[in-house]
Amino acid sequence: MTVKKILLYPNPLLLQESAKIEKFDESLVRLSRDLIDTMYDADGVGLAAPQIGINKRIFVMDCSREDEEKDCRIVINPEIKYRSEEFGSYKEGCLSIPGITEEISRPKVIKVVYQGIDGVFQRNTYEDLWSTCFQHEFDHLNGKLFIDHLRPMKKILVKNKMKKSLKKEKRE
Ligand code: CO
Repeated sequence: MTVKKILLYPNPLLLQESAKIEKFDESLVRLSRDLIDTMYDADGVGLAAPQIGINKRIFVMDCSREDEEKDCRIVINPEIKYRSEEFGSYKEGCLSIPGITEEISRPKVIKVVYQGIDGVFQRNTYEDLWSTCFQHEFDHLNGKLFIDHLRPMKKILVKNKMKKSLKKEKRE
């Protein structure tokens, strides 16, 4: 089990576009395991490779409820093919922006295509929390964070709060 360090905003690696994965080899399997271990260790529902400093298009997610079995999905080179006109909103947080949660509205249903760890293409439809989580992690692969969905004034407030808490952390 390898729990990696999670990078915090505004680390520049979080703000970059990640590269498509071409090789489905043993090192990719190791990367997916590191992502899964790190996500569960941090009690997260999703984690994207750039958050552990690797700018590749892979993320993991598990939005199963506590009373359900674990259901971890490994998502590689994802594309969103359809976004519903209906929106849903959830209070989102991010392991890279600790201590901040904000209500974010996103398409309620999405249809997606991605590759699994074996490179095989999969189609899937996600709704509600799974849809939100998928879109949040997908954004990470494009260097986008959930606070980028906030109105400009609100985003400045959140950024300042984040800067303050980082300074406090350094002092402690
Ligand atoms: Co995040």
